[in-house]
Amino acid sequence: MKAIVVTDEAAGTAGMTLAERPEPEATGNDVLVEVHASGFTRGELTWPGTWTDRRGQDRTPSIPGHELAGVVSVLGYGTRGLSVGQRVFGLADWTRDGTLAEYVAVEARNVAPLPGDVDFTVGASLPISGLTAWQGLFVHGRFQAGQSVLVHGAAGGVGSMVTQLAKESGAYVIGTGHVADRQTALDFGAHEFVDLDNDALKDVGGVDLVFDVIGGDIGKRSAGLVRAGGMLVTIAGPPETLPVDGLAVDFVVEADRAQLGEIVQRVRDGRLRTNIGNVVSLDDAVAAFNPTGRVKGKTIVRVRP
Ligand SMILES: NC(=O)c1ccc[n+]([C@@H]2O[C@H](COP(=O)([O-])OP(=O)(O)OC[C@H]3O[C@@H](n4cnc5c(N)ncnc54)[C@H](OP(=O)(O)O)[C@@H]3O)[C@@H](O)[C@H]2O)c1
Repeated sequence: MKAIVVTDEAAGTAGMTLAERPEPEATGNDVLVEVHASGFTRGELTWPGTWTDRRGQDRTPSIPGHELAGVVSVLGYGTRGLSVGQRVFGLADWTRDGTLAEYVAVEARNVAPLPGDVDFTVGASLPISGLTAWQGLFVHGRFQAGQSVLVHGAAGGVGSMVTQLAKESGAYVIGTGHVADRQTALDFGAHEFVDLDNDALKDVGGVDLVFDVIGGDIGKRSAGLVRAGGMLVTIAGPPETLPVDGLAVDFVVEADRAQLGEIVQRVRDGRLRTNIGNVVSLDDAVAAFNPTGRVKGKTIVRVRP
């Protein structure tokens, strides 16, 4: 099968190549999925699971990509609840070959049915950003209607989902990002926008929940924006600074079939809009992941036309 492979962590996306790889096998409780569309998260080439297996052993050349939408082609031994020919979408395992390929083997519990009226391209754009937003807000962030939520990177993959889910659930949403992202963040539903390029963060008062996707200096400053009793949720690594009188949680997104169902239903009925900036073929994907200019929104690879 055709796949994008990486062999050298230091090379980043510039080290991606299109290659021939053997088709993976569906082992116990797996499904083999014929990939129709897949997503790649910026930063994924720095995650240890891209390079090593669960024992920490080198597994290069590895195939990146964790978001998939496609059709089940084989059931592994013991797999129940899905059938051959079924449309699915979901999250590929962190420490196995991923979705920038014509086929991927994943644990069946990591995928959910993809309704027939949702395009594969849309399905592939939802798992990481949708589940991360859902879990950060509702599972780890203990969000409640009426709270104020500050969403860093509100025009990005995760941030745009957080913005929409929080607003739908009754939040007052403050989006942040580069000055050029103001309108995009407002279009996704932010009530107001804080321009990080011009240090407007200093003007923000205490909020109930900060959702940080950036980390670094922005992450450190975010702890001070959480009101007493509030929450800092981060996906950018362990927070270096904690809220003085509040909680902080960092987490890694998990697959969840029921939550995928909630997310895709919102897409179908128009409550949630996905954030796709660019759709490319597998042949053109390496060039697309090494853009010369700034790309807004997610790049989705349409593996089968
Ligand atoms: N822990 C987890 O489970 C988990 C899950 C998903 C993602 N992640 C990580 O979370 C991060 C965000 O993922 P994503 O898919 O949402 O990425 P993304 O689509 O690139 O979105 C990030 C947004 O934040 C903006 N941004 C970043 N740094 C900024 C800064 N200093 N000032 C202003 N704006 C800034 C980006 O703008 P520019 O691109 O223009 O800078 C972009 O709009 C990535 O590092 C990813 O690896 C972690």
